[in-house]
Amino acid sequence: MRKLISILFLSAILVSCSEVIPEEKAYELQIPPGFDVPQIPEDNILTDAKIALGKKLFYSTALSVDSTISCASCHRPENAFADHLAISHGVMGRTGFRNAPSLQNVAWYTVITMDGGNPSLETQPYVPIETHEEMGFNMVLLCERLNTDAEMVTSFNDVFGSNPDPYGVTRALAAFERTMISGNSRYDQYAYQGNIHALTAEELQGKDLFFSDALGCANCHSGFLFTNNTFENNGFFSDYSADSGRARITWLHEDVGKFKVPSLRNVGVTAPYMHNGQVETLDEIIDMYAAGGSGHENQSGFITGFSITPAEKEALKAFLLSLTDISFMQNPDLLE
Ligand code: HEC
Ligand code: HEC
Repeated sequence: MRKLISILFLSAILVSCSEVIPEEKAYELQIPPGFDVPQIPEDNILTDAKIALGKKLFYSTALSVDSTISCASCHRPENAFADHLAISHGVMGRTGFRNAPSLQNVAWYTVITMDGGNPSLETQPYVPIETHEEMGFNMVLLCERLNTDAEMVTSFNDVFGSNPDPYGVTRALAAFERTMISGNSRYDQYAYQGNIHALTAEELQGKDLFFSDALGCANCHSGFLFTNNTFENNGFFSDYSADSGRARITWLHEDVGKFKVPSLRNVGVTAPYMHNGQVETLDEIIDMYAAGGSGHENQSGFITGFSITPAEKEALKAFLLSLTDISFMQNPDLLE
């Protein structure tokens, strides 16, 4: 009898074990009209539970050494997951040297971070977690901390079949980030959803200017992402000694002052601008491009200057503002 009970008991454990082994139900990304299908790494299939865990981590201050800063502290939902400060504040008020960019459509990015120093969304989380001026923590200590949180331990086991570890932290965060999709601005409704009334006459004029050869914006801010995923020197500064951009990685003089071309989606809510957050308004930006840049020796040949009337400038600005996607910032799946 005792033997039978222990066999029953053992098989109950086996059954319950097999129940907690993750059942990979692939989550289907909602791909907006006009977008292509992004590459999802084979070792990080999207599932509902993994995305939910990634979201929990994204909004958790436990990721920082003193439990004060989450990813969302710098990547604020109401700013399309950018920061409203020129330079974000990390733990203990420490500041780094770059402006936190918006995080929309990162699933499609082939270049991650402004200098391309990071190969993937899976490797990127190490940077904020371990950078002294950001979360100031350490991945190993973070996992130790997560292992003391019963709810986290359960979630990690549900998703990965193991306790919190760096593999799971980075995979879950990346999975959640891939669901941050913005493709329903009024411009999208006009360009990809067949709503010809979605843009005003002024915005349409601005669109034509943006895509014109004379202004040449779409030489770099191109395609449905509004970036060609390359590094360019747009001539906004004459001195890049504080941050040499791509050259920090390649050490090549010709890469000094080159930064990843940022997407212009949601640019109406992501001020201040440029890698250092030193440019406050779209007016200043248009003026600088019109003037033909600073003439830095690495400045792109596409920045040659143009003339623009005040009314055209307003139209161009109106077009840039039509790239704001309210439904993205209010998407409950992305909010805490
Ligand atoms: C203290 C502020 C701060 C915190 C906290 C922070 N970030 Fe960032 N994030 C930045 C800044 C600044 C950059 C720009 C760095 C660069 O491109 O070199 C950035 C860039 C990124 C990028 C690259 C985007 C692109 O366009 O290539 C991703 C992805 C990202 N962060 C995700 C995260 C995640 C996930 C977390 C939490 C684990 C996080 N960040 C926490 C400030 C922060
Ligand atoms: C040669 C490529 C190139 C061209 C052409 C170009 N840009 Fe840019 N743009 C960039 C790069 C690179 C940055 C980021 C520079 C930095 O971070 O310092 C940028 C930044 C911006 C930003 C700020 C985005 C942010 O989030 O900080 C705006 C707005 C912008 N460009 C609009 C335009 C407009 C409008 C035009 C046409 C008049 C244009 N760009 C033409 C490469 C280009």
